[in-house]
Parts: sequence; C-alpha cells; structure tokens
Amino acid sequence: MENNHPSFARIIEEELIDYRIRSRFYHPSYVKRLGLSGTERVLEFGSGGGCMSRALARTLITEGSLSCVEISAYWIEKARQRLKVFTNIEYLQGDITRMTVPENHFDAVIIHFVLHDIEPVSRIDVVSALTKVIRPEGTLFIREPAKPNHGMPLSEIRALMQSAGLREIHTGCTRSWQRTWICDGTFKKSW
Ligand SMILES: C[S@@+](CC[C@H](N)C(=O)[O-])C[C@H]1O[C@@H](n2cnc3c(N)ncnc32)[C@H](O)[C@@H]1O
Repeated sequence: MENNHPSFARIIEEELIDYRIRSRFYHPSYVKRLGLSGTERVLEFGSGGGCMSRALARTLITEGSLSCVEISAYWIEKARQRLKVFTNIEYLQGDITRMTVPENHFDAVIIHFVLHDIEPVSRIDVVSALTKVIRPEGTLFIREPAKPNHGMPLSEIRALMQSAGLREIHTGCTRSWQRTWICDGTFKKSW
C-alpha cells in the first residue's frame, strides 16, 4: 500500500474515461441500484478522484453524509477540487488500517474497484478495518473486476467477507460492455 503519485497515463485515462464518461453515465446508475434512502452515513473506500463520490454526495445531499477515504494525496485533492460545491463530504487521506475512524459508525461502506489493486496478503486487514467502522446491521457493498490478470474472483471476495464476519446478502457477476467479468456483493454486519 503506497501513497503513490499516479502515472501520467493514469491521470489522462481518469480524466477522459472515468471522469467524463463513467462518472456521468455509469456511476449514477450503480449508486441508484444500491437503494440508499439518502439519510445514511456512507464511507467510500478508495474514492480516487471522486468519480463515484459525486453520485453518492447527490444521493446523500439533504440528510446524509459521505466520507471519502483515499490513500493518494493527489487523488483526494483532485476530488476535493471537483466536488467543492458539496458540503456533505469529508475527505480522509491515509491508510484505513492505520487511521482513526469512529467504530460502529457508518450505515454503509462502498468499495468500488479498489480491493483488487491491494496486494492479496493485505486485503483481509483492509476488510477487517472497514468492518469495524460499519454500525451493527450496516452494509458493505463491493464491486471488483474479475479478470485473472487484473482482478479478483468472486470466491475470494466471499472468503474475505466471511473471514471478517460479514453475512452475505447478495453476490453475482455480470459481463461488462468490454466483455470482461465484474463481480459485486452486498454483505451485512450482524453484531
Ligand atoms: C481504480 S481507482 C477507483 C476509484 C473509485 N473507487 C472509482 O471506482 O471510481 C482505485 C483507487 O483506490 C485507491 N487505493 C488503493 N489502495 C488503497 C488503500 N489501501 N486505501 C485507500 N485507497 C486506496 C487508489 O489510490 C485509487 O485512487
């Protein structure tokens, strides 16, 4: 887990594809499917440049709040600039396994295309740290690519969530327009 400055190629890709296209068309429909009521306290783990955060902040605009957790100083600053009109967002830069975040506090945690980028041996520590901050009966939503060379299989997502003590509500995989598999899951904290 490093606080890396992104490569020039990644900055361009994020600006042209993630920010201009995905954040307008794909992220809002994903957030809608989560079924949030708008009153929740949500933590978005690995929020990057805020492409998903915009749709979340809009959903939570009146009574909810969003905490963006991001390891990269570059991306958290990018998100802060892009989303400055929203007053319901807090920005937390750092490593979730070492940060002080209130326990049993969040109604929902969202992990979107992040865990597969973290080295496999560290994933359980990250999921355990995120589980601690979810309130009892709160929800963890996860969505990750399942490509063998750059992704993680659904079986690993399930095993990690089970190891952290989370209860499975739903899991499934769908084929993207790029013909790669994407897996998602909804898990609950029972205690
Ligand atoms: C592929 S981007 C996804 C951004 C966003 N979730 C989305 O779907 O638009 C992955 C992000 O996770 C961040 N990240 C990777 N490891 C992390 C960690 N240990 N803690 C917090 N953020 C992390 C990266 O810096 C990067 O911004």
